[in-house]
Amino acid sequence: MRIVFLGPPGAGKGTQAQRLKDYLGIAHLSTGEILRDAQDTPLGQAAGRYMLAGQLVPDDIVVGIVVERLSEKDCERGCLFDGFPRTVPQAEALDRMLAERGMPLKLVLAIDVPESDLIARLSERGRPDDDPSTIAERFRQYTALTQPLIDYYRGRGILRQIDGAAAPNEVFERIRNAVDSTVSSNSH
Ligand code: AP5
Ligand code: MG
Repeated sequence: MRIVFLGPPGAGKGTQAQRLKDYLGIAHLSTGEILRDAQDTPLGQAAGRYMLAGQLVPDDIVVGIVVERLSEKDCERGCLFDGFPRTVPQAEALDRMLAERGMPLKLVLAIDVPESDLIARLSERGRPDDDPSTIAERFRQYTALTQPLIDYYRGRGILRQIDGAAAPNEVFERIRNAVDSTVSSNSH
């Protein structure tokens, strides 16, 4: 099972991917986490400048990371993509990678949360890119570059929108229902 989590900063992609990973027993691939873990390497330092400015890291860097991660053993059973793809060229690169492996994307979960809730969540958390001006830039980047992916995947018939403005357990129930119904419709 290959599933993409799509959603603005703070939507709960990481929180819900962690739960779904445990539920499905498949790998979790967060490009943001991989980039943060690499901050002591030259690649991580190059990426860190974009991240601290709230801007997207260039597609070639991010796609290279995903190619490498997807070749690891734990991705063979399936993978949850959290924060990737984030641009149309990244989505096209993912399509090619998955086609080469004969593992098409099954489901895209787009988590919706009102912007005022997102700002409150991020301001409380306090990651280095959670200061108000960086949050504003992250939202701008999301609207300009990532939101078009909603139509991209809707056109492919694999998009499910999830109302993410509820307690984490409740949001997970909604996600689990969407996943379970996708699994059962694929088995017919
Ligand atoms: P990334 O790490 O992906 O950050 P993001 O998309 O901005 O999203 P967050 O991780 O902040 O939020 P989330 O949706 O995961 O929510 P979370 O569960 O943490 O990317 C960071 C940067 O890396 C980017 O800006 C870019 O520079 C670079 N990057 C990464 N991927 C890239 C790519 N593909 N291409 C180019 N650049 C890339 O929850 C947020 C907070 O809310 C937490 O404190 C959580 O506890 C709380 N919370 C979660 N759910 C709920 C709930 N239901 N109710 C109340 N609180 C909740
Ligand atoms: Mg995250």
